[in-house]
Parts: sequence; structure tokens; C-alpha cells
Amino acid sequence: MASRYLRALALLSLAAAQEPNITRCTSGAANITTGKAFHVQVCNLFGATCYINHPYIQDCATESLEILSGECKLYPIFEYVDKWVRSGASAVEELSTQNDLGCTEFISDGKAQLSGACAAVQCSLGGGAWAGPGMTGNSPPTRETGVTNTATAAWTNFSIVEISDDAKQLKNVFLYRTGDYVATTRRTYTWSTGGVTLSTGKLPTSNGNNYGALACLLRPVACPAQNTLLSDASISASDLKMCGATGKWVYYNAVNLLNDASLYATYSGDTGTTTSKNMAAVPFLDGRSGFQSGDRMDDARAVMLHSGDAASSAVLLTSGTFTPKVDFTGEVAGTWRSYGVVFYCDDYARTDLTQCAEANRKMLYVADPNPEEQFGTSSSLSGSGTAGDGTTSGGLRALASLASFAWSFLCFGLLSS
Ligand SMILES: *[C@@H]1O[C@H](CO)[C@@H](O)[C@H](O)[C@H]1NC(C)=O
Ligand SMILES: *[C@@H]1O[C@H](CO)[C@@H](O)[C@H](O)[C@H]1NC(C)=O
Ligand SMILES: *[C@@H]1O[C@H](CO)[C@@H](O)[C@H](O)[C@H]1NC(C)=O
Repeated sequence: MASRYLRALALLSLAAAQEPNITRCTSGAANITTGKAFHVQVCNLFGATCYINHPYIQDCATESLEILSGECKLYPIFEYVDKWVRSGASAVEELSTQNDLGCTEFISDGKAQLSGACAAVQCSLGGGAWAGPGMTGNSPPTRETGVTNTATAAWTNFSIVEISDDAKQLKNVFLYRTGDYVATTRRTYTWSTGGVTLSTGKLPTSNGNNYGALACLLRPVACPAQNTLLSDASISASDLKMCGATGKWVYYNAVNLLNDASLYATYSGDTGTTTSKNMAAVPFLDGRSGFQSGDRMDDARAVMLHSGDAASSAVLLTSGTFTPKVDFTGEVAGTWRSYGVVFYCDDYARTDLTQCAEANRKMLYVADPNPEEQFGTSSSLSGSGTAGDGTTSGGLRALASLASFAWSFLCFGLLSS
């Protein structure tokens, strides 16, 4: 893989590197989805306002994304030919694709080049203090698990985070609080020179493959070749936002931001059966998925998180039921969609990450952006810009079809303009 090759090269060029100038914004805009880019949804479950920005942006007011507590926002991955020169007349922009997920760091001519999915993230701790990315333990790349006291635990902090390749299926990453840090799953990369370290942590997401999305033509559009120049673009902005492979699947996801333990996840069996389907054990700060194809894609399903690491462990939490609706005329409902339940603890000040009182156990429902934000506190996913996906009934269902009808018109209008 090209990025691994570049990372290996970067390791060999440690001596030439300097400390990069990382911009860490504590202000930003409510919407930075301008231009053409592949997007992921960033959900803020930190318990306070967060900002996420590319480390080399120039203007926090317009290029940094502000995400209020409990909200999800779309974050564009902006990619440049020279990963250092990202602004001004000599900046040459490329179309980003799912292959641009993952933070590629490359050192050349004494400068650290950072790809589009490298990000700085700051979440408010109150009183003017800001949390940066970190993980428990002091023996990276893996974190110390089963942490019962964040105040006495060892911590590894990171300069930046990566929106990893694992995010390509659910197209969501999560900002969560552990101790006084923005939670990261593991260290993905580090380099050092002259006593200065640039290290990168991975934001929580799920796993699986990227199959399609809603596009204006009501079909997913394949991503353009990596490194296609923006100036050569024929793909529309909304198609690129959600591009993917065109295989027909529906995915269900479970994300564990609840307990610092490996908790098994299952999801409902096919309609008419009582045996649930296995996903996998989900490590803390991570996600796992299961998928269905064919006529089973439209079956209504819930996601269950168990109290232990085996499918036989008792069920701890059961989500509301997702009922896929038809997004693509002529296709089985649920085709090309990814639904997810984030099980999290909203006792943000807790020091024992292995415990979460019953009253603090919460669920956030998310889906792949379609093509705007998709999230909510129920399986009806009432995130801004949605047409009412998931469980809808009666009048709501009528409203939803009206909205998706209106959306098609908007798309065709844009395409013909
Ligand atoms: C960081 O910024 C300073 C001041 O603008 C500049 O002199 C230095 O070269 C920059 N560092 C890198 C690695 O580009
Ligand atoms: C953000 O801005 C873009 C471009 O103007 C627009 O298409 C999109 O609907 C906006 N999103 C939200 C959530 O307001
Ligand atoms: C870790 O975080 C502290 C406090 O934010 C900061 O002073 C220090 O430079 C960070 N260390 C690294 C290696 O990023």
C-alpha cells in the first residue's frame, strides 16, 4: 500500500525533519462542507464543544469545524498534490476518495507533509482548558485496557489524530472523553527528531468495506481514481461526498464507548426468526459490524450490546429498531446503507472507565451520511438534513417520502445547471 511505503520512507528520514506547525483551533464554523471532497461524519460524544481541523489550515473561522456536544457534522477530507502546500496560488487540490482515509505523514526537505485525513482535535474541558488526543498506558501502539482510575493511570498523548481507513464503511468517527483526553483507540504512527515527536492516534470508528451511497442519480457512484486533480473533475460534489463500490449490502454496527472491556455485539435475526446474528466482541473505543444482502436487507433490526465478551453473555442494552426504507428506486430497502448504534456513557467525569451507572448508559444512532448528516437519539435518525430514515410511521413516513422526492428534484436541478 502506497501509504505504508511512504510511512516507511518517513521513518528512514527522521534526521531531516523539523517540528511541524500544527494549528489547533478553539473556534470554528458550523459547516465547512464547501467544495468537492469525500466526507465522513464526526460525532461529538465528549460532553462539551469540540473543534476539528487539518493541522495546516490558515483560518480557524472558516476552515475548522465546530461540533456541539451530542451533534454530528460532516467533515470534508481535502487532499493536495503537495501535502505541505495547502493554500495560496501554488496549492493544487485533488479529489479525495475513500483511499485518502488514514493519516499519511511524509517528511521531505525538512518539512512534514500531512495528508487530508490527519487532524488536530480540541475539546473543551471548561475554564479555558482544552483536551487533546491521548490514550491510557505508556507502551504504545496499544492502549492499556480495563482502566479503573484515569487519575492515576499512565497516559500517552498525541500531536494529531487520524480518520482511519477503517472508517470507510460506517463513514463516522467519534469524539469521546477518557480522563482529560479526546479518546483514541491506538497509536498509528510516530516520528521523532531533535527531541521533538509527532505522534498520531486513531479516532474510534467501526470496520468493514465501503459500499456505495446515495447519489443524485439515486445510485452510488464509484470513487474517481486516487490523485485525480480537482481541475479534471467530472463527478458532482454530492456524488464524490459519498462515493463507493456498488456491491449491494446493508451494514449494522455497534460502537463501544460504554465500558473499558471487550463487549460482544449481536443484531436481530431475519424477520420471522428469533435467533440473533453475531457481530463480534467490540473493544472499548472501537466498533464492529455485520452485513446482509439480497431480500434480507430490508428486514427491521435492532443492535444488542452484551455484558461480556461472548455471544452467550447476557444482553446489556438493546437498541431501538431500524426499519430501512427505500432510498434507491427499484432497490430493496437498506441497499448500500450502514446503520450504527453507539453505546456510550454520559458520565463524562468518571474516573473508572470499566463502570457506567445504568442511568448514564446511552445510545446514539448514526448512519452513513445520505448525503447529509444522519444521527439521532432514536432509530429514526432525525439528524439535520435527513429525510427521516429508519423507523417511520404514518404521517412521518409521508413526510419522509415527500422530502426524498424534493431531494431528487434538487439533485437533478444541480446536475443540469
Ligand atoms: C513553522 O513556522 C515557522 C514560522 O513561520 C517557520 O519558520 C518554520 O519553517 C515552520 N516549520 C516548518 C517545519 O515548516
Ligand atoms: C453545509 O453547506 C453546504 C454547502 O453550502 C450545504 O449543501 C449543506 O446543506 C450545509 N449543511 C448543513 C447541515 O447546513
Ligand atoms: C502532551 O500534552 C501536554 C499537555 O497538553 C503537552 O505539554 C505535551 O507537549 C504533550 N506531549 C506530546 C508528546 O505531545
